[in-house]
Amino acid sequence: MTAADRAGARPVTTAATIRRLRPSDYGTVIAVIDEWWGGRPMSDMLPRLFFEHFADTSFAADRAGPLAGFLVGFLSQSQPGEAYIHFVGVRPGQRGQGLGRRLYEAFFEAASARGCTVVRAVTAPVNTGSVAFHRRMGFSVEPRQAARDGIPVAADYDGPGRDRVRFVKHLHADEGDGLLRERAMPLRGLPGDPA
Ligand SMILES: CC(C)(COP(=O)(O)OP(=O)(O)OC[C@H]1O[C@@H](n2cnc3c(N)ncnc32)[C@H](O)[C@@H]1OP(=O)(O)O)[C@@H](O)C(=O)NCCC(=O)NCCS
Repeated sequence: MTAADRAGARPVTTAATIRRLRPSDYGTVIAVIDEWWGGRPMSDMLPRLFFEHFADTSFAADRAGPLAGFLVGFLSQSQPGEAYIHFVGVRPGQRGQGLGRRLYEAFFEAASARGCTVVRAVTAPVNTGSVAFHRRMGFSVEPRQAARDGIPVAADYDGPGRDRVRFVKHLHADEGDGLLRERAMPLRGLPGDPA
């Protein structure tokens, strides 16, 4: 099923703007995050520090009003060349129209510009929509011996009973060095960039 199918072929009437996430977005995100995750309690996993210290690699999408979606990601300090996406969310009424993809692409570009070739993320096995989304975005599931409903999981990854699906994507795996260098330009001129 395509994004448009899931959205009931809803026409995209307003263009989206992708910009950097700002500390001032924190209140907006935290007010809706549990609702966007279908009532799961998520807000404790996203403290304000991410908005203050990882803004260079975190993005917001504005469409038909502020904050139709957001992505929080960062570069690994311990694994050179790797980047990690901690959270991505799109407002329920705005899903299925490519916003999640655009947020991920902005992150891939930012990570690539900073020399990263690998992007990782994890999700809860119960979040089958997230598993499908990551697969469509070109991530592989890192194989694990345990499986939940046919999905390989890392058992107890985030503590007892907290299994996680682990994703990995190699950026530009099928592209030549030249293109990688060409893409490795600093992201400039995004709305929200400091002048
Ligand atoms: C996951 C999420 C961010 C996707 O955002 P979105 O804007 O709807 O995604 P897009 O429209 O950009 O879809 C990108 C691709 O993923 C696919 N996809 C997205 N959600 C999907 C789903 N639930 N089931 C199957 N495929 C899905 C789309 O079909 C599309 O593929 P295509 O471009 O080849 O057609 C959104 O559903 C969401 O906010 N969910 C709740 C929060 C969450 O679970 N976040 C992820 C864990 S941190």
